[in-house]
Amino acid sequence: MATTNHTDTPPGPSGYPIVGSTFEFADDRLRFVTDTAEEYGPVASFEVAGTTIYQISDPELVEQVLVQNNQSYIKGELFQEALGDALGEGLLTSEGSAWRDQRHRVQPAFHPQMLEAYSEQMTDGIERLLDSWSDGETRNVHEDMMHLTVEIAADALFDVDIRDEQAAISDALEAVMDYAERPYHAPDWVPTPENRRYRDALETLDDVADRIVEKHEADGGDDVVSMLLAAQGEDITRERVRDEIVTILLAGHETTALTLTYALYLLGRNAEQRERLQAELDDVLGGRLPTMGDLDDLPYTEQTIKESMRRYPPVWELVREATEPDTLGDYEIPAGTTVTMHPWVIHHDDRIYDEPLSFRPERWSGEFERSIPKFGYFPFGGGPRRCIGDRFAMLEARLVLATVAQDWTVEPHDDLSFAPSITLRPDGPVEMTVHRRD
Ligand code: HEM
Repeated sequence: MATTNHTDTPPGPSGYPIVGSTFEFADDRLRFVTDTAEEYGPVASFEVAGTTIYQISDPELVEQVLVQNNQSYIKGELFQEALGDALGEGLLTSEGSAWRDQRHRVQPAFHPQMLEAYSEQMTDGIERLLDSWSDGETRNVHEDMMHLTVEIAADALFDVDIRDEQAAISDALEAVMDYAERPYHAPDWVPTPENRRYRDALETLDDVADRIVEKHEADGGDDVVSMLLAAQGEDITRERVRDEIVTILLAGHETTALTLTYALYLLGRNAEQRERLQAELDDVLGGRLPTMGDLDDLPYTEQTIKESMRRYPPVWELVREATEPDTLGDYEIPAGTTVTMHPWVIHHDDRIYDEPLSFRPERWSGEFERSIPKFGYFPFGGGPRRCIGDRFAMLEARLVLATVAQDWTVEPHDDLSFAPSITLRPDGPVEMTVHRRD
């Protein structure tokens, strides 16, 4: 057992003078954080791009940061640099009372009672997408899922049909996520193609948000935008409404699209699990579209989504900055320290999961869930800043997966490889041959 010495800096890769571990980190982030946890234990530290990072890899310490001591942490400068410009005062990036008030205002749209109404918009969207698939063709399934989830988020939460612009909006949101890899970018004023693409993307998103606001000013409604417009004047400006629209589009679509892409990939690579899922769908649905009422009878569908988010967590890393000193395990965390926590690392910890690299949806029994540490599985984060869209996402992921998998089998062309930024994005198109089931 290590001796406690609160004045020590946690152990970690020393890297090189001046640049620290910047290059190893940038080269393969997933491997870097995994190796760091394995070699240096639950609290490790290293330098990346001039920032000292404390990496936390123990579920109880993650719970301390996100839940018990959450008031000592904010999202912080790294997160602001990555997304602050694009998302302004939206829920993902705001802090303090501005965040609390906004969360309170937006919460009703994510109330479980609202979900039934959204479920039809979700199945309508996926039906339209599947109508465009032909037996035996190759699809970039990641792109399909990105277009689908942005369309569903706009339809369900803003009551707008963005079908004609879905590709442009999805591209703009992707440019924002590309730009979020901040430490490795040229400064904003340098007219690189990447910076120009980012500026153009922000303009596209501003225009989209403007049109959505104008439509609601004219027609009213009972969706998120109407709720926010009704609160205008309290301390809500039109700019703030724009920030929330872009935040919800960004936070609400890519993560769910990744979940679905990786679930389909995993089913394509694991015939036994795919057959078990399809047997459940045939038995319960018998060829008709799923509804929200069917979901309780589709436990394996839910287990498949859970296991996919364990194996490939869409948000692979959470970042915080300490606003006051804290103590994590044996180490003191000075105010101003950047702290990172990784679903990627903890979801693959063999002390929690047998054969963590295997895809085993059946591991998710109620008994197993009760047996693991609370933050042994945290695809949606935790504490007050837990994902507001978690139920929406679980509903959408199950309905879409059930609809696709009952009629289609997919065959991935290549092994997955990643370009992780804030999310666990694939490193290029995820092509699969799609086969209609007989
Ligand atoms: C499988 C899909 C999803 C995953 C894995 C996911 C994951 C997460 C995680 C891990 C966080 C916390 C980040 C942190 O603490 O730093 C978060 C926050 C958030 N998510 Fe999600 N999310 C998903 C879907 C959605 C959907 C569908 C929406 C909205 C339609 C949404 C909206 C948000 C918002 C607004 C926040 C910020 C909440 C706050 O700080 O109050 N997410 N999400």
